[in-house]
This record gives sequence, C-alpha cells and structure tokens, in this order.
Amino acid sequence: VKKLLLIGIGSGDPEHVTMQAVRALNAADVFFVMDKGDATGEMVALRREICDRYVEGPYRMVSTPDPERVLRPGSYETDVAAWHDQRVAIYEELLRTELADGETGAFLVWGDPSLYDSTLRFVDEIVARGAVEVTVEVVAGISSVAALAAAHRIPLHGVGQSVEITTGRRLAATWAAGAVNVVVMLDGRTAFTELDPAGVTIHWGAYLGTPDELLVAGPLADVGDEIVRVRSEAKERKGWMFDTYLLQRDPPG
Ligand SMILES: C[S@@+](CC[C@H](N)C(=O)[O-])C[C@H]1O[C@@H](n2cnc3c(N)ncnc32)[C@H](O)[C@@H]1O
Repeated sequence: VKKLLLIGIGSGDPEHVTMQAVRALNAADVFFVMDKGDATGEMVALRREICDRYVEGPYRMVSTPDPERVLRPGSYETDVAAWHDQRVAIYEELLRTELADGETGAFLVWGDPSLYDSTLRFVDEIVARGAVEVTVEVVAGISSVAALAAAHRIPLHGVGQSVEITTGRRLAATWAAGAVNVVVMLDGRTAFTELDPAGVTIHWGAYLGTPDELLVAGPLADVGDEIVRVRSEAKERKGWMFDTYLLQRDPPG
C-alpha cells in the first residue's frame, strides 16, 4: 500500500507551516508539485523553500505541468469537469509511476486543503477507482481567510453572527440573499464593485503572508476605487494576483 499526505502549507509565509506539517514533510519520500507556469512560479518557489527549510536531509520533488484550465463563457461546468478529469488522470499516473509500494508521497496544498482546493476531491476519486491502492491523510494549514483576519486584526463576524465564504462569481447572489459577513476568494473581476457600497465595510488583502502583502480597509464607498487601483497595479507588476476580502454590512443605527 502507498500512502499519500495532503499537507496544508499556509498561504504564503513559510512560518505558517505547523509543527504537524513539519513532521508530515519529514515522513514523505517524494513531493508532488503541479507547475502552473511562470505566472505563479513564486508559489512553486515557496514550496521548495518550505522543503529546504523544514525537511531534514535530501528530498525528492516531482514537478508536473498543470493542464491549462480553459473556461469558456457558457460552458463553465463542462470545462471544469474536463480539467478535473485531466488532473485525476495525471495524479493517478504520478502515484503509479513515482511512488513505490510502502512509500509516502505528499502534495503541498496552498493554505488549507478544505478550502477551494480540489486535491482532496481528485485523490478521493483515485481511491474510489481502485487502480492504485493508497491511503490518505490530511494535515490542516493556515488558510488565506485566517491570514486575512490576522493581518487586519479582526474577527470575521459579530457575536453570534454567521460568516459565509464564497467566490467572486457567487458574491452578487450571496449578498442579495442578505448575508451580513462574506469572505470572497477566487475573485478575478473585483466583484465588490458591482454592489451598492452604502453601509458596507471591506477588509481586503493581497499576497497575504508574503513580503508583497497589501492591505486596504475602510468603508467600501471610500476605499473601493483605491482597492481596484492598487490591485491592478500590483497584478501588472507581479503578473499574478491572489487576493481575499471580507465584506460586512454595518450594524443598523
Ligand atoms: C485555489 S484557492 C486556494 C485557497 C487555499 N486553499 C486557502 O486555504 O486559502 C486560491 C484563492 O485563495 C486566496 N488566497 C490564497 N492565498 C492567498 C494570499 N496569500 N493572499 C490573499 N489571498 C490568497 C485567493 O482568493 C485565491 O484566489
């Protein structure tokens, strides 16, 4: 039997790596890394830095190009499903060819594996298919949501309230349904600009935990334009963008 570890590595700061993750890193014989190309080369570099810093002795890293995710308007679900199948096939092949029986492989998962990351879904599918016999363990990591709240020194909600976590694509519907505290991830189009900013506070963070971290907070009506500008300048400069933000309806009165 082969063993697979899904290790949450935190959201950009090598010091996010927990003691449990360090132990898991040192239990792995091989690390699998999906290379998404130049734009996010920094994320592959961070994985290397984490291994260099925390793994005692030499380690083996297998880097595979990530299949490009082509999302055409109108066929989002089909395109995501096709990309999902491609990735499952790649992961299965890696487990078959790069991991011997009795060995332990590891995926270093950005942030926490439970949040907007499909590695667990891919791996569960491989287990269900049964072509490779593998057991799976998950190590929790510091998500970008936790990193955002800590950077701004805020709780995500008032006492006894709910907080919803959603994507840029779903923000308008979530907000219209009356959500009071919403964390938005995976937002390529600054979806907050489509909301009525009156009575809304935003806490925004980009490249959290990295030396390039950017933070802006305030009433959405006052800082919305600034965030759009700062975000587009940073994206231009670095070639990629990772941002997360919290929107909150101000209490009545
Ligand atoms: C594919 S999801 C992965 C989320 C990850 N599993 C987590 O726990 O944070 C990528 C999204 O996470 C958010 N994200 C991840 N790292 C971030 C960071 N360092 N700063 C700001 N947002 C980040 C962004 O919203 C980005 O679009």
